[in-house]
Amino acid sequence: MCPSDPAVAAVAQGDLAIKALAMPRDSNPGGDIFGGWILSQMDVAGAIMAGVRAAGRVATVGIEAMSFHMPVRVGDVVSCYAAVTRLGTTSITVHVEVWALRRAKGVSVKVTEGVFTYVAIDAAGGKRSLPPGPPGPPGPPVSPASQEA
Ligand SMILES: CC(C)(COP(=O)(O)OP(=O)(O)OC[C@H]1O[C@@H](n2cnc3c(N)ncnc32)[C@H](O)[C@@H]1OP(=O)(O)O)[C@@H](O)C(=O)NCCC(=O)NCCS
Repeated sequence: MCPSDPAVAAVAQGDLAIKALAMPRDSNPGGDIFGGWILSQMDVAGAIMAGVRAAGRVATVGIEAMSFHMPVRVGDVVSCYAAVTRLGTTSITVHVEVWALRRAKGVSVKVTEGVFTYVAIDAAGGKRSLPPGPPGPPGPPVSPASQEA
């Protein structure tokens, strides 16, 4: 159900965080996949990445720089790649990009990207400082040119 795509893994920025099949129930009245579904997949992908660095719970506090480059279609295999781009005192910023494998054509395209910020939280839901760890990267990743389907 989820074929590997080494070509995409070679150019996508970040680590593969989640992979999902775009289902008919996630489509909009026009027949393409609803943007809110894509955004929720991205939020989960970023939270997984942030949660590892935070060593615990995180909460989403900001979403910005969302760009929907191309539609996701029913039957596409959607892969979310995530990369930490900034570390604050309590916050972690993650760049998430989404690639869709058009299975009928055997081509993968970058369809969406965005920047998500999470705050490390404690059991009571209050913010907490990030645990010691490697320093954050120097800046946001350079986005590669995507392929046209
Ligand atoms: C997470 C929460 C506890 C943080 O408490 P807070 O008092 O707002 O914290 P602060 O304003 O001090 O901000 C905490 C950090 O987030 C950053 N931040 C806050 N809002 C931000 C935004 N919109 N975009 C980017 N970063 C933001 C701050 O710069 C700060 O970073 P730093 O500590 O690394 O310097 C609180 O905002 C909250 O509960 N929000 C709701 C979260 C939620 O329900 N998300 C949806 C479901 S997961």
